[in-house]
Amino acid sequence: MKTVSVIGLGNRGTEYMMFIHRLHRKKMKIIAVCDIRKQALDDIAPKYAIPKDRQFLSTDEFFANGVISDALIITTQDASHFQITKDAINTGYKIILLEKPVSGNYDECLELHTLAREKGVKLLVCHVLRYSNYFGKIKEIIRSGALGDLITINHTENVGYFHFAHSFVRGNWNKEEESTPSILAKCCHDLDLIQWYANSKAKTVSSVGGLYYFNKQHAPEGAAPGCLDDCKVKDSCPYNAENLYIKDPFWKAKFVKYMRRTLTGKTKSSKADIYEALRNGDYGKCVFLNDNNVCDSQIVHIGFENGINAVLTMNAFSNKMFRQLHIIGTKGELIGYGTSLKLAVFGKPTKKVRIKGLKVGGHIEGDMRLIKSFVKLVNGEKVNDSDLTTIEATLPSHEIAKRAEESRKATLGGEQNN
Ligand SMILES: NC(=O)c1ccc[n+]([C@@H]2O[C@H](COP(=O)([O-])OP(=O)(O)OC[C@H]3O[C@@H](n4cnc5c(N)ncnc54)[C@H](O)[C@@H]3O)[C@@H](O)[C@H]2O)c1
Repeated sequence: MKTVSVIGLGNRGTEYMMFIHRLHRKKMKIIAVCDIRKQALDDIAPKYAIPKDRQFLSTDEFFANGVISDALIITTQDASHFQITKDAINTGYKIILLEKPVSGNYDECLELHTLAREKGVKLLVCHVLRYSNYFGKIKEIIRSGALGDLITINHTENVGYFHFAHSFVRGNWNKEEESTPSILAKCCHDLDLIQWYANSKAKTVSSVGGLYYFNKQHAPEGAAPGCLDDCKVKDSCPYNAENLYIKDPFWKAKFVKYMRRTLTGKTKSSKADIYEALRNGDYGKCVFLNDNNVCDSQIVHIGFENGINAVLTMNAFSNKMFRQLHIIGTKGELIGYGTSLKLAVFGKPTKKVRIKGLKVGGHIEGDMRLIKSFVKLVNGEKVNDSDLTTIEATLPSHEIAKRAEESRKATLGGEQNN
């Protein structure tokens, strides 16, 4: 039986813990947890029978115990990833699963890569989409040669208007200086997929975009700083927090459960908890009168060394959250819409591609399958190394994001937003 510790018991950490416990408990046991919120330790530790002396309120306390498990999962917020991972490697952990993005500072990504290599550490990054059978199937079709030579990759990340407002206008990723630019925070997955498909190094990267809509210029007349204040337009505003978090039909959707957990910090929240959080916290704030500064729309062009051209569009303004793609080769094309896939090989009838599994859990089952690969890796079982999201495999996506931001800011002549 292998053991694992988890640092960061928020949305991601607890989801991974749930998969380990539900699906792999014969192979892996969670033996220690660390979070700076006592409430998180009190809520989560008893579920996994983790004794008090294995519950830590700071990483300093946690690392002071040396290596206490076979593997470590780090699921804290973006800005803390670098230091905690560095401390973990220096303490002696040999298998680490780190949430994406590795860091908003590319030099720190390189430093962790070097350190991991020097110390023989397997450092995996949670680019969960690669583990989904859906995106795996796309890679398999490309590898099979059915599309011929790839010419262009068009990939759109439709974030969803309510998701964007929650995470990137009101929430944890709304300020670049406290987290990372949205092209990295939201789209390092997409950049990772694109470079995985292209299987080449980015030669040129250019980008345009900015914070177009969620700002004061677009505040309707009568808007108030908070949705529960005397806002005159709340009935017609799709971002009305009271609707989004309490009254709207989305309430029943899985994503709203996630939004609600972030809002209150509790696993189970009452209506009163939510109203209290909307009144006093960030999630009740007007989306037009906030202090957010990350882009709500951005386009990145990547010219790869092997001649493939790719365009990534990140867009806040969609009704649903889904990824759209169109991959064009000399012999055929592949069209993806959310979870469906059509293959058209020229001269043959268009086929709907069948994909195994796909009951569509978190990230089209990517979360669950990432954990499966992680458990196998820790148990010394065979995993397909070439498709593992090691730090090395992850660097190109982070490098492209960095170059995209440099290009976007240069295009804007030093202005942050358009
Ligand atoms: N792989 C994906 O698809 C995906 C999706 C969403 C978020 N993420 C990433 O996962 C990470 C976590 O996101 P989340 O939504 O779970 O956030 P969260 O805020 O819900 O959870 C983070 C937890 O870490 C704790 N924490 C913060 N600093 C800490 C520290 N120094 N030591 C110990 N605990 C600390 C917080 O108290 C909190 O409980 C972020 O980096 C985010 O960008 C990845």
